[in-house]
Amino acid sequence: METYLPPPLPDTALFAKINFSKNQLAAIRLIFKKYFEPAIKNFRYVGNAISIDWNIIDPNSSTYDDAFAAGDAITGYRFKEDVANDPLWNEFKDILPYMNRNGSLTVMPPMSVMTPHVDRPYRPMAIYFPISGCTENCFSDFYHLPKNKDPNVRNWTHQIVPALYSYNVVDNAYIMNTQEWHGVRNYSRQTRIAMGWNCRGDEERKTFAELRKVFTALGYIYE
Ligand SMILES: [Fe+2]
Repeated sequence: METYLPPPLPDTALFAKINFSKNQLAAIRLIFKKYFEPAIKNFRYVGNAISIDWNIIDPNSSTYDDAFAAGDAITGYRFKEDVANDPLWNEFKDILPYMNRNGSLTVMPPMSVMTPHVDRPYRPMAIYFPISGCTENCFSDFYHLPKNKDPNVRNWTHQIVPALYSYNVVDNAYIMNTQEWHGVRNYSRQTRIAMGWNCRGDEERKTFAELRKVFTALGYIYE
């Protein structure tokens, strides 16, 4: 069976560095320490991320929240309203209108790999923040692979393929296109933790290109 593989997307359609301030990066790390770290202390990595949700349950919850509530998450935690009400989020006043109150944690032991995959179709774009153990030996990758016809098949289980683009979430955050083939390699000697904060997933959900424009206009993307 022949598979048509369209030309690769440019890197500008897949990921972009978001230049948050030192205070903003510190705020995310503090939120992680206060709420998320205690919740995941018994987590064992088996190749997947951990879903986190701090939305106050309301009738306007996004499609991502609904799917989460329906149990379509491998490992997931819901947090009470103290997380959503934490004043540390005020550091992100300008971007909150574009963001969900949920995301995921990627906790990867030394020398572990998250193989190429596409996130669930309802998952919006996401911004990944370095939390701990994020070094130049941790690679975020995008791959040039054919689109799956079945949205339930999201993992690349065929031959090992080289990455098309690689970048390191080290000194700042990156927005990434969750709906294209991607993976992570932790080739370091430490556990690597990153937090993916989801962009809006409701009827206001934006494409990667639209979000790129938004974050450029807000002064977070330089090029
Ligand atoms: Fe992913």
